[in-house]
Amino acid sequence: MTAPDTFADTNVAAFSAEEAFARHLDAIDPLASQREAFHLPQAVDGGPAIYLCGNSLGLEPRAARTMVERELEDWARLGVEGHFQARTPWYSYHEVFRESGARLVGAVPGEVVMMNSLTVNLHLMMVSFFRPTKDRFRILIEDGAFPSDTYAVKSHLAARGLDPAEALLLLRPRVGEDTLRTDDIESTLATQGESIALVMLGGVNFFTGQVLDMERITRVAQAHGCTVGFDLAHAAGNVPLRLHDWNVDFACWCSYKYLNSGPGAIAGCFVHERHGRDPSVPRFAGWWGNDPDTRFKMHLIPDFTPRSGADGWQCSNPPILAMAPLRASLDLFDAVGMEALRAKSRVLTGYLEFLLREWMPDDCRIITPSDPGARGCQLSILVVPRDGSAPRERFKALEAHGVVCDFREPNVVRVAPVPLYNGFHEAWRFAQILANRPR
Ligand SMILES: Cc1ncc(COP(=O)(O)O)c(C=O)c1O
Repeated sequence: MTAPDTFADTNVAAFSAEEAFARHLDAIDPLASQREAFHLPQAVDGGPAIYLCGNSLGLEPRAARTMVERELEDWARLGVEGHFQARTPWYSYHEVFRESGARLVGAVPGEVVMMNSLTVNLHLMMVSFFRPTKDRFRILIEDGAFPSDTYAVKSHLAARGLDPAEALLLLRPRVGEDTLRTDDIESTLATQGESIALVMLGGVNFFTGQVLDMERITRVAQAHGCTVGFDLAHAAGNVPLRLHDWNVDFACWCSYKYLNSGPGAIAGCFVHERHGRDPSVPRFAGWWGNDPDTRFKMHLIPDFTPRSGADGWQCSNPPILAMAPLRASLDLFDAVGMEALRAKSRVLTGYLEFLLREWMPDDCRIITPSDPGARGCQLSILVVPRDGSAPRERFKALEAHGVVCDFREPNVVRVAPVPLYNGFHEAWRFAQILANRPR
C-alpha cells in the first residue's frame, strides 16, 4: 500500500482495498472535521448510520436550529416590527443569499433568488422562457427526466394548446447504453433545433448521476435559437457550476439535497442578468417581485414594475422560518468552498467506485459514468439478481445493516458519499456490506 500524503497525490491506480487505507484517507482528509457540523442519524445498533442519501435529503446542520430559533425569538419579541427590526429584517431576508447563492452556482449577484420550491420555480421559468411560436414550439427534455419536470413540461404544453405527442422531444441513451452522449444531444439539436423553443434538462440526472456538459449544450442549443434551462436539483452543492459564464438562460434547484436545508426547503432560481435586466420579459407577477419603492403604494400604483434581476420573479413575501436553515447551510459552503468540496468528492466517489469494482457481486453494475468529470458524488448501482429475487430485497439488506441510501424503481440503488459529512471508512464499510463480506 502506497499511502498518499494529500488528496492531490491520490490517484485511482494507488487505491488499496485494505481497511487501513480507508483510515489513512480519513486521516489526510482536510474536510473530515466538517462532519461534526451535522446531526448524524442513528443506526439500529445506536451508532451513526452509514448515511449515503444526501442525494435525496441532506443532513441537518447543527447551526440550523439556532438560525430558526433566532427568527422565532424575534417574532415573539417583536411581532410585526420584525419585518424591519429583526436581527435580520424579514422585509429583505432573501437578500441575505444574494452573494452566497450566486457563489454556489457561478452567478453574478442579482441573478439568483431563493424562493418557492423547485417545481413551482420551473413553472415560473417556463411562463417566462417557453414562448412557443408556430414554427418553434417544442420542448426538449431527457426521457429519464424527473417525473415532476415531465409533468410540469407537459402541463405547459397543454396550457398553450400543444400536443405533447408532437411538441415534446425526448433524449434517450443509445441502445445498450445507460447515459446520454453529448454528441447525440448535439445531433438532435442540429436536426430538430429549428423547432425547439426550450431545452430543459437535468444538469445532473437524478437516476444515473450523469453530469451533462451544460456549457456545451447551452452553446449549441442557443446557436440553434433555443432557450436553455437546467434543473439543478442534483447539481447544486454537488458539482461546480458557472451558470453566468455558460450563458444559461435560467436554472432551478431545491435546497434539501446537497444543500442540507431541510425537508421541502426553499428552492433556488437563476435568471441570467440579460433577462433579469429586461422588464419586458413576461412573467407571473406578485408584490415581492415588484420594485420595493412602489410595492407599498398598493392600490395607488396598481401596475407591476418588476425589480431588476431574479428578485423580479418573486411572487410572495419570503417564508422566513423556511429560509433560516439555508443560512446555516450556505455558511458551511462558504467556509469550505466548492473547489475543496469537489476535490474531496472526486477522491471519495472514485474510492467508493474502486471498492465496488473490487468486491461488488456480479449481478450489480454501476451505471454512473466512470469519468469523474461526468459525475458528481452519486453512484447508481443497477441490480439484476440472478436468483430471481426482487432487486428491492438487496436494498432492504443494506438498510438492515445500518445503511441509509435509496432505491429507484425498477432496480437501481443510489448511493451518494457527500464530501461535507461522509468519510472514507464509511465508504469502505458500505462496499463491504454490499458485497456481503463478513468482517
Ligand atoms: C431532479 C428533480 N427535479 C424536481 C424535483 C421535485 O422537487 P420539488 O418537490 O421540490 O418541486 C426533484 C425532487 O427530488 C428532483 O430530484
